[in-house]
Amino acid sequence: MSLSLAPVTFEHHRPAFGIAETKPRISYRFEGTAVDWEQSEVDIEITQNGIPKVYNVKTPDSVLISWPGPELKSKESATVRARAHGLDGQPSSDWSQPSTVETGLLATDDWQGAFPIAADRTTETNGTKRPVLFRKEFSVNSTTTKARLYITALGLYVAEINGKRVGDHVLAPGWQSYSYRHVYDTYDITDLLQKGDNTIGATIGEGWYAGRIGFNKQIPRNLWGATLGLLCVLSITDDSGKETTIKSDLSWSASTAAIVSSEIYDGEVYDSAAELKGWSTSNFNDSDWLAVKQLPMPVGSLVPSDGAPIKSVEQLKPVSILKSKSGKTVIDFGQNLVGWLKVTVSGPAGTNITFQHAEVLNDGEIDTVPLRSAKQRDTLILSGNATQTWEPSFTYHGFRYVQVDGWPSATPLDGTSVVAQVVHSDMERTGYFESSHELLNRFHENVVWSLRGNFLGVPTDCPQRDERLGWTGDAHAFMPTANYLYDASGFWRGWLKDAWSEQKRGDYMVPPVYIPSDDVNDDRRERARMPVSVWGDVVVGHPYQLYQNFADKQMLEEQYDAAQAWIDKGIPRNDVGLWDRSTFQFADWLDPKAPADDAGAATTNKHLVSDAYLIEMTRLLSSLSEVLGKDDLATQYADQREELIREFHKAWTEAYPVIANVTQTALALGIAFDIWAPSTAARTSAADTLREVIKNNTYLVGTGFAGTQQLGNALTSINATSDFYKMLQQTEVPSWLYAITMNGTTTWERWDSMLPDGSINTGSMTSFNHYSFGSVADWIHKKIGGIAPGSPGWKTIVVAPEPGGDITSASAHILSPYGAVNSSWTVRADGFHLSVTVPPNSKAEVTLPGSGETATIGSGTKTFFVEGYTIPQ
Ligand code: BGC
Repeated sequence: MSLSLAPVTFEHHRPAFGIAETKPRISYRFEGTAVDWEQSEVDIEITQNGIPKVYNVKTPDSVLISWPGPELKSKESATVRARAHGLDGQPSSDWSQPSTVETGLLATDDWQGAFPIAADRTTETNGTKRPVLFRKEFSVNSTTTKARLYITALGLYVAEINGKRVGDHVLAPGWQSYSYRHVYDTYDITDLLQKGDNTIGATIGEGWYAGRIGFNKQIPRNLWGATLGLLCVLSITDDSGKETTIKSDLSWSASTAAIVSSEIYDGEVYDSAAELKGWSTSNFNDSDWLAVKQLPMPVGSLVPSDGAPIKSVEQLKPVSILKSKSGKTVIDFGQNLVGWLKVTVSGPAGTNITFQHAEVLNDGEIDTVPLRSAKQRDTLILSGNATQTWEPSFTYHGFRYVQVDGWPSATPLDGTSVVAQVVHSDMERTGYFESSHELLNRFHENVVWSLRGNFLGVPTDCPQRDERLGWTGDAHAFMPTANYLYDASGFWRGWLKDAWSEQKRGDYMVPPVYIPSDDVNDDRRERARMPVSVWGDVVVGHPYQLYQNFADKQMLEEQYDAAQAWIDKGIPRNDVGLWDRSTFQFADWLDPKAPADDAGAATTNKHLVSDAYLIEMTRLLSSLSEVLGKDDLATQYADQREELIREFHKAWTEAYPVIANVTQTALALGIAFDIWAPSTAARTSAADTLREVIKNNTYLVGTGFAGTQQLGNALTSINATSDFYKMLQQTEVPSWLYAITMNGTTTWERWDSMLPDGSINTGSMTSFNHYSFGSVADWIHKKIGGIAPGSPGWKTIVVAPEPGGDITSASAHILSPYGAVNSSWTVRADGFHLSVTVPPNSKAEVTLPGSGETATIGSGTKTFFVEGYTIPQ
């Protein structure tokens, strides 16, 4: 019986370097096979300034334990390890491997003397901005023991020291609501410095800050500013403990070089002939460089990131090089992905190579129509000097195919000369699922790929067309799935801070429909600030779901006001408290029956959907109030919900045999949100009707964004899980597996983004990488895989697989905050076999299918058997 602890982690950081919290909460996962193990106390050793001190904390908690030591100061680091003790007679663990935590620039004068600098040149206000290089030489006279670079940009930055790239973040500092929150990053640059002459350089591109970002006909530029700027502090501590700082100020110089343009939507143009060799080293003559000028400090607070940085996390090689119908050369990566190419090539000077990225082929050619105005095209012009390796710096693309024009004959085009870099926020992968059903497994893979393609700094709707915005409705639908697959806690924490900052601007208390929005262009602000259900409801749904997954009350406190403000003030009500009927709604967006050119024309009334969500959001707010000990408010919202249910029935059910719209969405929402609970007869009739509607639709999907995420839950709650299996296993359009039969490798925006004849949906929004309909994976994890958090943060686990359809075995695995949770089952001739692994310090409530028998188990691996069990059909 072994027990060990993984290295401790801090708050929701990955890694905890340059963080804002001075008393970061500590968590650790358990490893090993200890049976029924529970923690009684823990020793936490904190080493500050070389002096270790052990704190004994009597607590059963192993997640988010309060920092027991003295508060960390600005730029201070500590090493922390833990050793956990069990209840009487249970073993203790050894010390965990040490983890380091370090704070960022937290003192008020830390940035003093530093200010954003811009090149002393005219800014291209109405067009693409040529990236700007900044450099500064400095000398280091003694041995460096510790050096840090704190850096951000008005735009995006890449930093170099003595010719070497600093760190491995890309598209840094990511995208925030810069008017409120402007992230800076911290790097350990100790090893990059040398005694004597040193040089720091940084290239700044326009990014989201100053680039072309938005949607619809006119996409504005310069949402947060028109001038590219660099802001940094470099801190060097020598062996005598003396600290010297180098700051962005007027002593720097600036220039432009090989990157002619690099834009989020449109791609990069790189002219190798304009490269400035050695510009970030000290042997470089910068006498013809420009002076720099001072810009005002960023408007938003300078803060470290809550979430993981964006990185290149994987490389894919081409699976084939095709010739298109018209004879063009097209690389197929076999996987729709997000990122860019990295190429190694040589050829004559002036060779102009273009890389046109696309998600699909249509009639034998790459199809760029779904990109709308986004070019997604990179151009590399060779200098002819030598073999060079290039990848773009300030753009990203959604693609599986790349049409290459102008590739020089001197270099073979293959997996050694071209690879795809897969790029996303570098969160920890936590959740997995597998089954005996191959198409379902591929679907699950696609869900993961669409998450990876759209968790890039913010949760985007799509990664390829001229949009890529943090649409709230999409995030709301997908959140439970996302939190199982990855630890997205820090990612959401930052995004929800921006949501709240934007929501409380003015006094409407309406969150924009995509975040970050902007507060610059009034016209656009109006559009982004529409109060709409499901989308706006994210400020209630997210805090609730985050709390279920990570049990962080402090984070919930941060988010509670937004939830309450939306319910109390943001939602325009009619005289009985339901949604104001004059409001615009997206509601059951992309109902499969909506025409290609009218995605909102759903078969379920928009205000019916809105009212159902309002009832559910009011319940969630009541529950959150209770968690935070706000008992009066909990009661108040619970009562409000009862009243809303009564009004819902008056509006939507009483005058009809069942409900105003006899659709999958209307019925599923009513059932899943318990709106029929007061009357068993009415609920039964709704349940029967839902089953009939689904059957009459030959088990094809009839839901859009609002209904899809709740359909499985509704069917399971009325003991109709087998119906949902029939839907899940459908391969005709519209169904989840249809895209797999069409060789889709990501989840699509529309049920029929590609039509059965292989042509592309003609609607103006046709993405092949949208995560919303992948929201069904939450149900797959819970009911096929069989695991879900039972109490917040996975302290208890609900294990309740419900086999169905043709699936004879499945397994689900998650690295919960406590450690590895596993459920694997198989149905054989003799019955149902289940194996469950529970990590130390947590428990599982296991419900066996068929028998309904339940058991509560502690840590360890246990097996179960239901004799004679057969899969219900
Ligand atoms: C996006 C969505 C988004 C929607 C708003 C679309 O263009 O891609 O997924 O939620 O607009 O209805």
